[in-house]
Amino acid sequence: FMSVSAPPSLLFLLGEALYPSPEEGWQIYSSAQDADGKCICTVVAPAQNMCNRDPRSRQLRQLMEKVQNISQSMEVLDLRTYRDLEYVKNTESLMKVVDGKLKVASENPRSLNPKGFQELKDKVAQLLPLLPVLDQYKNDAKMILRLREEVRNLSLVLMTIQEEMGAYDYEELRQRVLLLETRLHSCMQKLGCGKLTGVSNPITVRASGSRFGCWMTDTMIPSSDNRVWYVDGYFKGRRVLEYRTMNDFVKGQNFVQHSLQHPWAGTGHVVYNGSLYYNKYQSNIIVKYHFRSRSVLVQRSLSGAGYNNTFPYSWGGYSDIDLMADENGLWAVYTTISNAGNIVISRLEPQTLEVLQTWDTGYPKRSAGESFMICGTLYVTNSHLAGAKIYFAYYTNTSSYEYTDIPFHNQYSHISMMDYNPRERMLYTWNNGHQVLYHVTLFQVIKTSGD
Ligand SMILES: *[C@@H]1O[C@H](CO)[C@@H](O)[C@H](O)[C@H]1NC(C)=O
Ligand SMILES: *[C@@H]1O[C@H](CO)[C@@H](O)[C@H](O)[C@H]1NC(C)=O
Ligand SMILES: *[C@@H]1O[C@H](CO)[C@@H](O)[C@H](O)[C@H]1NC(C)=O
Ligand SMILES: *[C@@H]1O[C@H](CO)[C@@H](O)[C@H](O)[C@H]1NC(C)=O
Ligand SMILES: *[C@@H]1O[C@H](CO)[C@@H](O)[C@H](O)[C@H]1NC(C)=O
Repeated sequence: FMSVSAPPSLLFLLGEALYPSPEEGWQIYSSAQDADGKCICTVVAPAQNMCNRDPRSRQLRQLMEKVQNISQSMEVLDLRTYRDLEYVKNTESLMKVVDGKLKVASENPRSLNPKGFQELKDKVAQLLPLLPVLDQYKNDAKMILRLREEVRNLSLVLMTIQEEMGAYDYEELRQRVLLLETRLHSCMQKLGCGKLTGVSNPITVRASGSRFGCWMTDTMIPSSDNRVWYVDGYFKGRRVLEYRTMNDFVKGQNFVQHSLQHPWAGTGHVVYNGSLYYNKYQSNIIVKYHFRSRSVLVQRSLSGAGYNNTFPYSWGGYSDIDLMADENGLWAVYTTISNAGNIVISRLEPQTLEVLQTWDTGYPKRSAGESFMICGTLYVTNSHLAGAKIYFAYYTNTSSYEYTDIPFHNQYSHISMMDYNPRERMLYTWNNGHQVLYHVTLFQVIKTSGD
């Protein structure tokens, strides 16, 4: 059931990035449970041949289709959790290593030199916060397996019913499928999002353009739009290239050109639902440019936002206003004089560009290399140069922050753009004239319904 909306030659690039495309029925999830949280899949319905003209026969077919959709969603769910399970497994093996070393050390204290001891301490520090979630996670993974089996059972039962005769309660059947749907839906929601725990090795897609720039695909979920947009340079430009597919982008072929009515500033552009959102040069105005009609749909000033290189990221380049999108919608990251240059996050209404809500992170924007949003959490790097790491996280759901230490390989030593694509669950970066992708590992504790 895994279908990645990309040409086969690109599959190696996208790896486990799953597009929740509409064809996969990703939006339709299901599940049912009784008092002990178990699915009951006893389903009965009129036989097909007996009541072909009975509307219930059509309804039964719909139910079957729905269950089929559920089982597809389960497959996707399973693949998505696979990555997190790998993380848990790695953690477990790391724990075993540490445990073994600790045993050796306690039996023979001299076997451990100061460096080894420090390493051990670091590893333990890395593991401590995970201990309480490990068991919970394993239970959750079991729950997914059970849910899957239940869906299989339900689909088998439905198939048998089609061949049987009788007058049965369609309404009950429907209710159960609906419940199954609700349960799976909440399970998927929880699985879709999580806390960033790791960034993969970089995958260089192409070497092209100047030192600074921006490239991206559409960030809206769901979307089957595979076009790639390429915006070279960081100020006063107007030219945006649109490639038909990622494969075309890799080969540098099959593109059309858009010439923006207003020039841009920085590299913080984002494509969301078929429109480019960008900061207009020498202003704090955000412009929404619609690709299909090649027109500006709306423009609006981001109240108080610094611009014209007043509050850029550490690399400069008019990067005062950074637009981005995640699972929760469209965001602007910037700062104002009244926030004393500390990063401010605003959630934007995509049609009107009105600010819906604002958070003050307290993190100085000039000390940030770049930032990107995943599941409502802003992650900030501490530099654009070699040695950069993801250093700070701001949680909009709880209006709280923490310092993080998530390394990533800054292969070409000058990152001027870094954005998460929630559809592909990848980071898009522009690194010194290279277009580079990273996979991310999101960790989440899935609570079974009822806890
Ligand atoms: C199942 O998924 C297909 C494809 O996404 C969709 O067209 C169809 O409406 C879904 N069926 C039901 C009953 O939800
Ligand atoms: C699925 O069906 C099999 C065989 O009828 C049964 O043993 C199993 O317990 C069922 N699983 C669930 C989760 O209901
Ligand atoms: C807030 O979001 C983070 C990750 O984005 C998640 O780990 C955390 O559990 C959420 N907190 C609440 C209270 O929902
Ligand atoms: C996406 O754009 C279409 C028109 O192009 C619009 O009808 C739809 O509401 C938009 N969806 C979102 C979530 O903005
Ligand atoms: C932007 O900055 C440049 C030089 O730093 C200055 O010449 C120009 O007047 C500024 N424009 C605005 C609109 O602030």
